[in-house]
Amino acid sequence: MDTSDVTSMVGDMEAQNMKLKKSPPFSLERFHISEDYGFLLPDPLEELSNYYKPWMEIASNLPLMIESHQLRIRVDVMPLLSCHLLKDRKEQYLAHLLLSFITMGYVWQEGENNIPKVLPRNLALPLVEVSRSLGLPPILVHSDLVLTNWKKKDPDGPLEIRNLDTIVSLPGGESLKGFVLVTLLVEKAAVPGIKALAQAINSVLQSSDDDLLQALKKLKTSIAEMTKALRQMHDYVDPAIFYAAIRIFLSGWKDNPAIAEGLIYEGVSEEPLKYSGGSAAQSTSFHAFDELLGVCHSKESTTFLHGMQEYMPPSHRAFIEEVRSAPSLREYILSSGSCLLREAYNQCVAALAELRSYHISIVATYILTGAAKAKDGGLGHLPEPPQALAEVGTGGTTVFRFLKSVRDTTLARIIDQSD
Ligand code: HEM
Repeated sequence: MDTSDVTSMVGDMEAQNMKLKKSPPFSLERFHISEDYGFLLPDPLEELSNYYKPWMEIASNLPLMIESHQLRIRVDVMPLLSCHLLKDRKEQYLAHLLLSFITMGYVWQEGENNIPKVLPRNLALPLVEVSRSLGLPPILVHSDLVLTNWKKKDPDGPLEIRNLDTIVSLPGGESLKGFVLVTLLVEKAAVPGIKALAQAINSVLQSSDDDLLQALKKLKTSIAEMTKALRQMHDYVDPAIFYAAIRIFLSGWKDNPAIAEGLIYEGVSEEPLKYSGGSAAQSTSFHAFDELLGVCHSKESTTFLHGMQEYMPPSHRAFIEEVRSAPSLREYILSSGSCLLREAYNQCVAALAELRSYHISIVATYILTGAAKAKDGGLGHLPEPPQALAEVGTGGTTVFRFLKSVRDTTLARIIDQSD
């Protein structure tokens, strides 16, 4: 190699570095993540064209139809519609929302009694068709329940609970609405954190410690705001109603003793299929923060959490993958020797562990207290609570052992003197 080759190689490297500095390689846009709404779908559609009126009519009356035991009768005579008239992603998301809610109502209309073995073809076929287009499973997921299921009462008003409503509902009245909308507020509180995550990765790529410090401070504040938002669950959701009336409609047909064999999707598969229910364990925000901070959960928890990623929109799943493959933030901070960066990183980890601790107390309130009330016969007019769910979460894990393990492995990433 002569000197001119070396000069040209150095030139190439400099050009590459310049390029890296000019255009940060990590952007949210690439993953369909909104700067304003994060993982929430910005301004979801509320209506489909007239052709889809039969779905809309049923979906918008679900609580009444379920409570009067009429839903299955209505679904059985629903026309079989094709998804080919859905024009774009937003219409597909709304179709998935409508069909997955109708499916949960259909399966759980009678609680744990008389559970159907078959989802009829006029529901199963379009649900599977639109699920394939979106890369989602054919069941209600966090993205249906929360990310695409919101509207502003006053379109020019703020994204605050008093100005928000759900598009589709299930039994549980105001508590169901509160459960969806408080979860939405947690996702909204995560938005500055998601932007800070991108800034942190770009700062590491460009070795910019000042930017990294700012990003970590923003991330910590955002995680603390998520905990604050989660506190509102107590104001809007009654534990007894959550336990006895809401939980079952979020349950799936995988690892669920009430429907151990799974569900046949008529016209799709002759074998029963198994899918987990809707859970905020499918929230991309938590997974992405774990990846950024280098949190390593136990093998068993990781298996469950990775499984939950299959229930996320594919672009959000790809986002987690991209964060995972970015250079390690933790290693960067350890090798920088900067006390300020260490402290800022530790504060993020502590805030995430604190969020998880608070979540555990929420689960205790909503599952244990709900169960105790149910045992005392203190549920009044509410239906007999589901038995198969007494010990397990809606996604089918041994709840507290799992949640505490995930919280503890988060906390274990705090950098101390010996690291
Ligand atoms: C009444 C409110 C809530 C209850 C009863 C509840 C219950 C549960 C349960 C039982 C699990 C275990 C996994 C499963 O079975 O799916 C879980 C996991 C999880 N939940 Fe919740 N949850 C609630 C609200 C929320 C909210 C609002 C969020 C945030 C958006 C959230 C985020 C998570 C996450 C991220 C996990 C996975 C474990 C982790 O990463 O720490 N949950 N939840």
